[in-house]
Amino acid sequence: MGIDPSATMLSWARAQPGAMDVTWIEGDAARIAPTGDVDLVLATGNAIMHLDDDQLAEALTRIAGALRPGGVVSFESRNPAAREWETWTKDATLARRDTPVGPLVEWVEVAEVAGERVTFESHTVLPGGDPRVRTSVLHFRGAHAFETALLEAGLVDIEVRAGWLGESVTERSRLVVYRACTRLTT
Ligand SMILES: C[S@@+](CC[C@H](N)C(=O)[O-])C[C@H]1O[C@@H](n2cnc3c(N)ncnc32)[C@H](O)[C@@H]1O
Repeated sequence: MGIDPSATMLSWARAQPGAMDVTWIEGDAARIAPTGDVDLVLATGNAIMHLDDDQLAEALTRIAGALRPGGVVSFESRNPAAREWETWTKDATLARRDTPVGPLVEWVEVAEVAGERVTFESHTVLPGGDPRVRTSVLHFRGAHAFETALLEAGLVDIEVRAGWLGESVTERSRLVVYRACTRLTT
């Protein structure tokens, strides 16, 4: 099962190898049923950074309710210590690429940093000069915030790594990967 609120992202996912074996759902964590029989929940591509604190608590509670005893949740989130948003300037990110509808120009720019909450604008200029701007918010949470949220959702045995292969976290790690489990007995 794969869940994403973006129809565009789902259409991309549906075109990938193996996609026929997946049930694709347009929505968010509210679509996760409390079945208590799921082995593994993954949130990849920093999707968890889109959630505010209430949404994170709700999502982790729903995930915990879907997992079987001893089931695993794992997700990645950019490391706030690496301050990656500081590189999100027009100069540093400006790119041109060819697309099926012609050359496209794109860049990102940070609009506001308020604590862990970073608002940025993604600019796209389509062939013919039609500019589009999309504003997004990402939450750059540290390990303490994630550990607290995981424990409050009843998830335990928390592991914190710098990648999906178990690398050690340093100040310079771009990504942090979290892994936690439901208890084996309730
Ligand atoms: C960088 S993309 C990663 C997509 C995909 N998970 C992957 O790993 O390739 C981040 C994704 O988070 C999704 N997203 C945004 N808000 C979300 C939410 N509230 N719940 C779940 N996913 C969300 C976006 O639609 C987007 O597809």
